[in-house]
Amino acid sequence: MGMYHLSDELRAGLADTADAMVAPGKGILAADESSPTIKKRFDAIDLASTEETRQAYREMLFTAPDVQNFISGVILFEETLGQKDSQGTPFPELLKQRGIIPGIKVDKGLARIPGTREEKATQGLDGLGKRLTAFAAQGARFAKWRAVIHIGDHRPSRLAVDVNAHGLARYAALSQDAGLVPIVEPEILMTGGHDIHTCDRVSEWVLERVFSELVLHRVFLEGMVLKPSMVTSGDACPEQAEIDTVAEASIRVFRRTVPAAVPGIAFLSGGQSSELATAHLNAMNQKGPHPWELSFSYGRALQEHPLKVWAGKDENVPAAQAALLKRARCNGAARYGEYSPGMESG
Ligand code: 13P
Repeated sequence: MGMYHLSDELRAGLADTADAMVAPGKGILAADESSPTIKKRFDAIDLASTEETRQAYREMLFTAPDVQNFISGVILFEETLGQKDSQGTPFPELLKQRGIIPGIKVDKGLARIPGTREEKATQGLDGLGKRLTAFAAQGARFAKWRAVIHIGDHRPSRLAVDVNAHGLARYAALSQDAGLVPIVEPEILMTGGHDIHTCDRVSEWVLERVFSELVLHRVFLEGMVLKPSMVTSGDACPEQAEIDTVAEASIRVFRRTVPAAVPGIAFLSGGQSSELATAHLNAMNQKGPHPWELSFSYGRALQEHPLKVWAGKDENVPAAQAALLKRARCNGAARYGEYSPGMESG
């Protein structure tokens, strides 16, 4: 019973990596935008997405001075894992030299589930074992797989919840088998007019199903990281829950569904403003101690400001890096419940 198909040595390595990913005072930078997603982000600053601009942008992020004090790991897209900095150092090696753990997004995006109201399943299980082994050889030490759940219009369906929980568990088991720590990401989208209570019920259901599949698939819980959305009001709900309400509802759901064996929960930002994502994390940590580390794995909430400041221009690199460091520092403080909005102007 359990995960004893993994050797003692493999389990110890997975647990060490997972612990380091959620080390106190630090969190993860999600910089794993797929080609269509990074194009969308670059469109907003009027920049063409080419291999060169994508490399330049990621080099700006990964070489930002002092971010290693607040960033434990970076999630890369496949293309970036194979790219080099302008000195010729491969990105995974550059991150490693800075004490930052490189990881890799391994899912292949979403496909509709027939018979549902445009609900989605995550693709990428076929051949995944071989790809994971190759990513590990390129220097990746953890992996990420994102599943998406919609709320509203009679969603989620039981079918969508079960298909996605199964996919996450299959991926997590294959990752550990290849020596990579799986980030298990069931994202419940904020999109919609639903209230926080609806998000609360759906979150509990989804997380219960995800952990039940993880256990069925013999996933070593000490060697994984959960990346959930927070329990919030839908973005179009007229009544937006207060920061404290979001923190309380989120903690209650996680206490009910996430085993204490899991070392850390690293939230996605999901379209929240950068400052609100920090404030929510801070409020949750103020309510500690908790059985797990409560950390961040933000994409937009870390990159929104630096991307805008950079705007595709070399001369803006130092200012953009300072903007990234500021967000990283604010979120690092929120890891201890020591963030205050005053830090935003400092
Ligand atoms: P956001 O924080 O922008 O939601 O991105 C995190 C992520 O990795 C989504 O898969």
